Amino acid sequence: MGRHVIMKSRVPKGYRHPDLDASLRVSRTRNEARLIQEARRLGVPTPIIYDIDLIGGEIVMQELSGPRVKDLLDSSDDEMRRELCKEIGRLVALLHQGGITHGDLTTSNMIHYEGRIWLIDFSLGTKNADLEEMGVDLHLLKEAFQSAHSSFLDCYDVVLSSYKKNFAKGDDVMKKIKQIEDRGRYT
Ligand SMILES: Nc1ncnc2c1ncn2[C@@H]1O[C@H](COP(=O)(O)OP(=O)(O)OP(=O)(O)O)[C@@H](O)[C@H]1O
Ligand SMILES: [Mg+2]
Repeated sequence: MGRHVIMKSRVPKGYRHPDLDASLRVSRTRNEARLIQEARRLGVPTPIIYDIDLIGGEIVMQELSGPRVKDLLDSSDDEMRRELCKEIGRLVALLHQGGITHGDLTTSNMIHYEGRIWLIDFSLGTKNADLEEMGVDLHLLKEAFQSAHSSFLDCYDVVLSSYKKNFAKGDDVMKKIKQIEDRGRYT
């Protein structure tokens, strides 16, 4: 139909029991397609889904032909970086406000396209998320910033303040993050 699409295909993993492997493929594919669509309804840019094959573990979706935010952050100046981080915080807030967590929030799972940031890769996300899951989401993002963007860690603070500004329960999530990090430190 003249559209640019990509097919995300989950290939069988030989190290897993075949039954478990097949059932994981079905559930992750279903979960991903569902959450991509629900996130979009919340106003978070995500690719349009054209086709889903649960048994084959395949999703055909809109191709976002732009750079990963991971790479863009590296090549941006301070001001642009700030704007990108503010937008990341706003999008995660929108998602959490709508009860969805992403499950693998890293800047590799964000694409810059048509002047916006789009989120992809929702296979580990949840619906009806609680504060703990939201805290874990942000904690993972912090770790992603620490490993991928260690030279501009202040960016993560910009993400957080934008998140808090856009999400009424932001402060409660901050408390959760603190608990999660304290736990990590002593166990
Ligand atoms: N709709 C899309 N348009 C353009 N590129 C995409 C799209 N979806 C995925 N990609 C590219 O493919 C990569 C892998 O996709 P995705 O993150 O969904 O799968 P994954 O199995 O989690 O891979 P990984 O975690 O190893 O990055 C992305 O980082 C991105 O570069
Ligand atoms: Mg990914």
